[in-house]
Amino acid sequence: MKLTNTTIWKQLEEHALAMSSFHLRDEFDKDDKRFEKYSINLNNLLFDYSKQRINEDTISLLLQLAEYSNLEKWQDKLFKGDKINHTENRAVLHTALRSFSEATIIVDKQNVKGNVEVVLKKMETFIERIHSGEWKGYTGKPIDTIVNIGIGGSDLGPKMLYKALKPYHDPKIHVHFISNLDGADLADCIAHINPETTLFTIASKTFTTLETLQNAHTARAWFLRHSGDESTIAKHFVAISTNKESVSKFGIDTENMFEFWDWVGGRFSLWSAIGLPLALGIGMEHFNSLREGAFSADIHFKATPFEENIPVLMALIGIWNRNFLNAETLAVLPYDHALSKLPDFLQQLEMESNGKSVDRDGNFIHYETNPVLWGATGNNGQHAFFQLLHQSNTLVPIDFIGVVNSSYSLKGHQQRLFSNMTAQAEALMRGKNEDEALKELKTEEKHLASYKVFKGNVPSSTLLFKHITPHSLGMLIAFYEHKVFVQGVIWNLNSYDQWGVELGKKLANDVLNDLVNNDKSNKHDSSTEGLMSYFKSNFMDDIAL
Ligand code: F6P
Repeated sequence: MKLTNTTIWKQLEEHALAMSSFHLRDEFDKDDKRFEKYSINLNNLLFDYSKQRINEDTISLLLQLAEYSNLEKWQDKLFKGDKINHTENRAVLHTALRSFSEATIIVDKQNVKGNVEVVLKKMETFIERIHSGEWKGYTGKPIDTIVNIGIGGSDLGPKMLYKALKPYHDPKIHVHFISNLDGADLADCIAHINPETTLFTIASKTFTTLETLQNAHTARAWFLRHSGDESTIAKHFVAISTNKESVSKFGIDTENMFEFWDWVGGRFSLWSAIGLPLALGIGMEHFNSLREGAFSADIHFKATPFEENIPVLMALIGIWNRNFLNAETLAVLPYDHALSKLPDFLQQLEMESNGKSVDRDGNFIHYETNPVLWGATGNNGQHAFFQLLHQSNTLVPIDFIGVVNSSYSLKGHQQRLFSNMTAQAEALMRGKNEDEALKELKTEEKHLASYKVFKGNVPSSTLLFKHITPHSLGMLIAFYEHKVFVQGVIWNLNSYDQWGVELGKKLANDVLNDLVNNDKSNKHDSSTEGLMSYFKSNFMDDIAL
């Protein structure tokens, strides 16, 4: 039966109608236990969802929806390695990459956990050799610079975490992340580094991605111009991939390849060897602590009843906001400068996973799926886009991410930052009615009252951490990963393929063939032809680095 025709979906629709006069301010005024009811304290984290437009009936209906979707059964399938990515015939086992349990997981007769251990050991030994200076560059100098070349899942997670974990950086090593095909990205980086002390990590699950291969070839050519000798490549280039053949074709010895497997989705891969540049930057011990944090989130997700289960609640609230309150976007606003790249990472995680409209059985679906996720550091956002959040007619639910103790103890900053975040969440929730606005105005200003009215009732959750540590970030990311999984189960989607992106890869090659080889076999529309012809007649050739 179509999801939207089920009794539970209809009940939720009716409930949403009945909630049309619900205002969060009234709910807080009449129930001083609301925060207690709708918040969860777990180790280093406080999850407060009391400012969502929900009541006990909402939660009870959403839990019934989860039950209707057989969520528990799907959780079992996920963790034991069933091939739930059915369009690519693959298991989805990023949880095995951070599992500290004894249990084995077998996929296609392979002991997945055994393979993971081997690669982790190889990473550890390699990192030790780099950090101790035993691994030397072609002129005998130790490595002090890592340049990771990768894109999407082979870039965003490690890059975001490297920035977030600055206090954990090894001072001897500096890591750069290059992803953009635009030569400006790489050119800017290589202008400031020394080839003698630089190691490139070429990260690509498929090792066929145009952006990564182009950047890797350019980096290789630049490096060889300095070293002058092909045999020096082995000391300065390593690969992270599932594709041995293409790695060796590129010219990297597969001895210098860190392997992962097709059951690790790109956007879920930071726990695998894709995390190598991060682990080089923060050390294996901290990388393992990140994995432990994620493992603790996995245990919470697996073992906690749904009504107290943080990722399940995050997912259900997201579905309530998207499908029943019709919110088209979700803003993620970290009040911590170190987390400035978190929204970028979550965009891929959520939108590439659940931005879909075909169900698991291949049928087109007509309900909305993932909202557009966007965001920026909250305090900067206050002076940019918060006006719209407060006073437009667009409903934007928010995830506030806050931190109690900053890693940078500059006197006076942290309390002010926290005050800003909580005050914003409170104001967005309460709003200001006309009477209140009038009271604040002098007699001669009363005509301004309507401009000072705030409707309020903006739903938000707050994830408040005591500290930003590798462990707490591991937990945070794993919670969002499980949220994605739960939403995919309820929307009846395969969250683990990305055919929409694959199309882009093919289209770019068609245009490129025409530009470079004058290959006219692919017909384009007049707009595309017009743009191509303008490019061709004005292009003045690339400058080699
Ligand atoms: O953007 C599409 C995508 O396939 C992502 O899913 C993936 O993370 C990214 O490209 C990079 O792919 P690869 O690691 O194979 O280079």
